[in-house]
Amino acid sequence: MRLLMLGPPGSGKGTHGARLAAEFGIVHISSGDVLRTAIADDTPVGKKLAGHVARGDLVPDDVLFELLVPIMERAVVETGGFIADGFPRTLPQAERAYREIGLDRHLKLDAVVSLDVPDDVLVRRMLDRAQQQGRPDDTVEVIQHRLAVYCAETYPLIDYFRQRGILLPVDGDQSPDEVYADIKRALDQRVTK
Ligand code: AP5
Ligand code: MG
Repeated sequence: MRLLMLGPPGSGKGTHGARLAAEFGIVHISSGDVLRTAIADDTPVGKKLAGHVARGDLVPDDVLFELLVPIMERAVVETGGFIADGFPRTLPQAERAYREIGLDRHLKLDAVVSLDVPDDVLVRRMLDRAQQQGRPDDTVEVIQHRLAVYCAETYPLIDYFRQRGILLPVDGDQSPDEVYADIKRALDQRVTK
């Protein structure tokens, strides 16, 4: 199975992506986690992208494809699938991923889980996380910027994937177990269609 978790910052892409991956025995690939690891390890790529991530700006597509495509390919070879979390997140990324990953490598997405959560809830969740985990981009200013980037760059993907017939909209403003149950129900319905 190849899934994409789509949603604004703080919507639960990571929380539910990791749980789905554990249940299905496939790899959870969070673009943000991959970038944060490169930054923490102070690799050349990490050095180059640290400023973008700290500001909540998108990193350049070429670097991202170079980093993530091999991870996706390896995940499919080793476990039979992946849960992509946060990549692609712009129309140009989605179109390029469709060509270079979907068509060229025969790794088209089976479904896209789209989590919908109101902005005030998102902000509260990220500020709570800042207290627990201290993620450097969870400050009031950077959160507002990440939400604006989401609206401008990522929100249009909802229509894009709906038109491709693979969008599974889920209400992300419920308890984690309720959100997870809705995702599983939506996936089951899609598989049995
Ligand atoms: P990324 O790491 O992807 O950050 P994000 O999109 O801002 O999303 P988050 O990780 O903050 O939230 P999430 O949806 O995973 O929610 P979570 O499960 O953690 O990207 C970071 C940066 O990397 C970007 O700003 C950019 O610079 C760069 N980048 C990444 N991908 C890129 C790309 N494709 N192109 C260019 N640049 C890219 O949940 C949030 C919190 O809420 C947690 O504390 C969780 O416990 C809690 N929570 C979750 N669900 C619930 C629930 N149902 N009820 C209550 N609490 C909940
Ligand atoms: Mg995340």
